[in-house]
Amino acid sequence: MATYNIAVMPGDGTGPEVTVEAVKVLKAAADKFGFKVNLADFDFGGERYKRTGETLPDSGVEELRKFDAILLGAIGHPDVAPGILEKGILLKARFALDQYINLRPVKLYPGVATPLKDKGPEDIDFTVVRENTGDLYTGTGGVTMKGTPHEVAVQSAVYNRFQVDRCLKYAFEYTKKHGKKARGRGKENTLALCGKTNVLTYVYDLWERAFHEMGKAEYPDIRRDYYHVDATCMWMVKNPEWFDVIVTGNMFGDIITDLGAMVQGGMGIAAGGNINPEGVSMFEPIGGSAPKYTGQGVINPLAAICSGQMMLATLGEEEAADKIEQAVMYVTANKLKSLAAGKMGYSTSQVGDLVAEKLCE
Ligand code: IPM
Ligand code: MN
Repeated sequence: MATYNIAVMPGDGTGPEVTVEAVKVLKAAADKFGFKVNLADFDFGGERYKRTGETLPDSGVEELRKFDAILLGAIGHPDVAPGILEKGILLKARFALDQYINLRPVKLYPGVATPLKDKGPEDIDFTVVRENTGDLYTGTGGVTMKGTPHEVAVQSAVYNRFQVDRCLKYAFEYTKKHGKKARGRGKENTLALCGKTNVLTYVYDLWERAFHEMGKAEYPDIRRDYYHVDATCMWMVKNPEWFDVIVTGNMFGDIITDLGAMVQGGMGIAAGGNINPEGVSMFEPIGGSAPKYTGQGVINPLAAICSGQMMLATLGEEEAADKIEQAVMYVTANKLKSLAAGKMGYSTSQVGDLVAEKLCE
């Protein structure tokens, strides 16, 4: 029997509540589809930081490296200054484990309200492949004359050809396997590069050349589109049906996937995977720790459940992953009144039960 060793990092705020539900569904899937999950809990997060001053130490990274995958709840604590936990835990894990892809599907499930007028599940169904190791996130830069009227602050968008090529490779392969044609939803598989070649004439020129070179040489059947990032935001709202797979740098990917999360019905449903195709990947709901809802049992666990589903798909348990997604779609279509915290018509744990029960039918 296939056995997967999973590191579970519930983290801060509502992270633990939603992680319990994701684990509930994972265990139900394991029973139903005949595989085993061994779970090990790690308490990295704000509380541990407050107690010990430790975020994610190097020894923690080495521990995590031994697992098949990591399931993360949320990082961010109201008593800890912004940046410490995000950089010290989340970004540290992404960088140290070289999780160079951040995969973020934007899919409107049936029964879910979108703020986009007259758009439905057939229109909102695309995936963003966000590069996850470079760009403004490398910390390249510095400050001089701090505190004076002449203070200078520099923060650089950094990419090398290797990072761009490995991300593009993943994006083209993903498009070949999961594009609109591949899933019977259109005539062609399309990969769009989201950049800003009119202003970022070094970084996105590199991306654009690499994109067309690779596409032309290795993926002639995949249609290639290009959008500036500002136009991407515009069309995500006006014509989301134009998109299939979008590949972009780290910063633009961060921004457009928050827009994507709203388009697909909010943070309650938006899931993502920090993927190292050759190593240990980490799956997380993309919303934060939602301190104001902590401990009330009102937060929506579907984003965490869908992160677990993406984890299974990445581990190769495709059937179990598909069935979890179908169970989630059944629950959004037939059960939940809303995806918003406190407005679902069910508690956090009842939503987990609904998905697990549907899965086991
Ligand atoms: C995300 C978050 C993080 C990011 C923050 C918390 C560092 O916004 O996962 O999108 O910018 O990547
Ligand atoms: Mn973000």
